[in-house]
Amino acid sequence: MTTHVYIAASLDGYIATHEGGLEWLNGIPNPDNSDYGFDEFMARMDAVVMGRNTFDVVLGFGEWPYPKPVVVLSRTLTSLPEDLSGRAEIMKGAPAKVLETLQQRGYKRLYIDGGQTIQAFLKADLIDEITITRVPILLGDGISLFGKLTKPLPFLLCGSETYKNGLIKSHYRREQ
Ligand SMILES: NC(=O)c1ccc[n+]([C@@H]2O[C@H](COP(=O)([O-])OP(=O)(O)OC[C@H]3O[C@@H](n4cnc5c(N)ncnc54)[C@H](OP(=O)(O)O)[C@@H]3O)[C@@H](O)[C@H]2O)c1
Repeated sequence: MTTHVYIAASLDGYIATHEGGLEWLNGIPNPDNSDYGFDEFMARMDAVVMGRNTFDVVLGFGEWPYPKPVVVLSRTLTSLPEDLSGRAEIMKGAPAKVLETLQQRGYKRLYIDGGQTIQAFLKADLIDEITITRVPILLGDGISLFGKLTKPLPFLLCGSETYKNGLIKSHYRREQ
């Protein structure tokens, strides 16, 4: 099974403001209405694993955007909205345990999302691929994509793409 991060970050490595704000991201001009390859990426995934804070933000979008099963990591949530029945579930446990459970279900590719969640998986060296889209803005503060690690984790650059609006998407694979 492989784990994949697909995320947008500011030049200084933030994925949202402290309050969870994404205006700096959503406000970028996008005249071609590009999804920056997101649908193609999602089509390759079997399920999404996201932290509860990211789940809260997604709920605020109104319409549920995921075509694949979603696992919400949380130690505090006890239930999900009824309309997500069969589409999302709550799980808790260390990253390795979560992966073991999902592997037993036959999932082969997992999309891992949310700052704390990605950091916990990286700390356990359980992220195989990272696609990061850099947004040309310095936020100065906010929710960090990356955190402390117990050892350096080398990644190989597999490719990168520059968009007219200044975004640069880079795809990295964990070097074994
Ligand atoms: N720029 C982008 O592309 C992008 C992408 C995704 C998210 N975001 C933003 O990132 C922000 C959310 O990130 P975040 O760093 O706050 O955290 P997060 O990873 O979304 O959520 C953290 C929460 O997940 C739960 N959790 C994490 N690991 C767990 C585990 N192993 N077992 C059980 N529960 C676990 C805990 O929930 P409980 O407190 O309930 O226990 C924890 O408080 C949002 O503002 C979102 O909009 C941005």
